[in-house]
Amino acid sequence: MQLSERISRISFSTIATVLQKAEALKVQDTKLADFGAGEPDFPTPDHIKQAAIDAIAEDFTKYTPTGGIGELRQALVEKHAKDYGSNYTVEECLVTPGGKQAIFEAMSAVLNEGDEVILPTPYWVTFLEIIKYVGGKPVLLETSESENFAVHAQAIGKLITPKTKLVIVNSPHNPTGAVVPPGEMEKILGLAVYHNLLLISDECYGHFLYDGRKPFSLGSSRERDHLLIVDSFSKTYAMTGWRVGFALGHRKLLANMLKLQSHSTSNPNSIAQKAALAAVEGPQGHVDRMRTEYRHRRDRVIEGLKSIPGIRCVPPHGAFYAYPNVGHYLKKNSLGDTSVLAERLLHEAHVAVVPGTAFGTQEHLRISYATSLEHIDEGLRRMAAFFSKI
Ligand SMILES: Cc1ncc(COP(=O)(O)O)c(C=O)c1O
Repeated sequence: MQLSERISRISFSTIATVLQKAEALKVQDTKLADFGAGEPDFPTPDHIKQAAIDAIAEDFTKYTPTGGIGELRQALVEKHAKDYGSNYTVEECLVTPGGKQAIFEAMSAVLNEGDEVILPTPYWVTFLEIIKYVGGKPVLLETSESENFAVHAQAIGKLITPKTKLVIVNSPHNPTGAVVPPGEMEKILGLAVYHNLLLISDECYGHFLYDGRKPFSLGSSRERDHLLIVDSFSKTYAMTGWRVGFALGHRKLLANMLKLQSHSTSNPNSIAQKAALAAVEGPQGHVDRMRTEYRHRRDRVIEGLKSIPGIRCVPPHGAFYAYPNVGHYLKKNSLGDTSVLAERLLHEAHVAVVPGTAFGTQEHLRISYATSLEHIDEGLRRMAAFFSKI
């Protein structure tokens, strides 16, 4: 079988690989402390599920408009306006089968072979792989752990060349939980405007902010011709499996993303769109409860990690990940990078984590704390025992 050069540029998602290995152990009835999956352990709220059941009962099971049903797009722009003070129109909203698809379509629509894309490191692995797939050239912006992985507009500015086409920012951040302050985000957007670039602001974790930080979307900015907001129902409403995401941006860009959607996935699942509509229009108490619970879990995880000698961890201010540095144990055991360590944690301690190599750093592990306190306590206990032995 002759494969294309294009498909050979990318690898299977490291995160999905961890999930598969963890599943295999669960099938063998191994009691796993699973910090791997970046997905809420909460069920999808009942009123959202009921809307899907109603949609099936009412035969809402046919093709819909490719870019999503009008009611959902309308509800999305209204909710965004209410939450963040933006003023997008329905034509500036595209519903996609998951946030990932929106990112894929946007990069396909704007990048030519060799165009440079500035991507802060650590990065969510999918950004890098899509850049490579569509022929872009990733230009990695190193952030510093001692500065809590802060992304500075000035540092981005230094990497801009005549070949730069796109800048990607994800705040709150997967995998570090870092949050870019609104003022800094505005400056990054200012750079995009000045240099005629596109800025993708991935705001999938925008509702999960802690320590008094106020929800913020760059979409509330007046200068938004150079901005594409990507968002998702996956995390906000515990709807990972339903596959609904959306993008807000310039109508010309959206029209071109829509072309690709029309020849690939077509419309997002009709039933899931009705569920998404109920999510946006319905009560938001579930989101608040999840946020409160995540903050509680975050504190427990950070406390537990800090109590393991040799491990340090920057405080995450959003999302549901911790990104501890385990460099001490890598050196002590001459382990090279964290992929071997993550394997050993899985098989010897039955703790699933994602190695930081998936996110472009050598000394970290990603811990998803979207799991119960009971699992968190047990996982931390196992990690402490494991590290005390190696
Ligand atoms: C930073 C980030 N963006 C986008 C997504 C995409 O989510 P989905 O495709 O489930 O909407 C994820 C999922 O993990 C993510 O972590």
